[in-house]
Amino acid sequence: MGRSDDACLSKTMFAGRFFVFDGMDGAGKTTQLKLLGEWLDELGNDVLSLSDPGSTDLGTRMRELLLGHHEIAIGQRSELLMFLTARAQLVEELIRPALASGKTVLCDRYIYSTVVYQGHAADIDPDVVWRMNLFAVDGLLPDLTFLFEVDAETAARRLGATLDRMESRGPEFYERLRRGFIAESERNSDGVLLIDGTQPKYEIHENLKKACVKVVSA
Ligand code: TYD
Repeated sequence: MGRSDDACLSKTMFAGRFFVFDGMDGAGKTTQLKLLGEWLDELGNDVLSLSDPGSTDLGTRMRELLLGHHEIAIGQRSELLMFLTARAQLVEELIRPALASGKTVLCDRYIYSTVVYQGHAADIDPDVVWRMNLFAVDGLLPDLTFLFEVDAETAARRLGATLDRMESRGPEFYERLRRGFIAESERNSDGVLLIDGTQPKYEIHENLKKACVKVVSA
């Protein structure tokens, strides 16, 4: 989809739409969120880009505790509840009002991160994590989630030496994450598009644009 195709797109087409970029660390989701945001912005949409956890005062505090290196013990269940606390606040304070006012919301991570990182990769039943998420977000699901996956080696190369608390858990954990994201994309194929993060950046971007157009034209 090139610039001439873009000219056919209406600028209100993406108003009130919600797209999530989720998946493995180092798979390129944040880069793609930025590219898609720029494209939507150029089309004339009012775009709000958010990070989960983060973007609200409460979410930012949670993020510091969850991702910073410190001496405070955080058990598995506490960790899950903290991610959900940040998300509940994000939905209530920013996402719902933005969608209601016609903005296009892009969010870096959302429900699948918790289902996979705290569920599949950390032994809490993924179905329980799903149900707790639905409570936290009060049922608000995105129009489409892009799930980025990449092999551990490529990710390690891209992430370099500066790993956060969650990222420094080693290759076995990474492999569990990968299997979890793939399993979730298979069982929820409707609202999810699995993205191979090793593909060239602009090829991925073109695919995401097409997928967004398809979902809002359906
Ligand atoms: P991320 O938002 O990708 O931050 P950055 O790209 O700036 O490092 O990282 C958040 C980390 O938290 C990442 O390792 C995944 C993890 N995470 C969970 O374990 N559960 C969750 O519910 C979320 C949203 C993130």
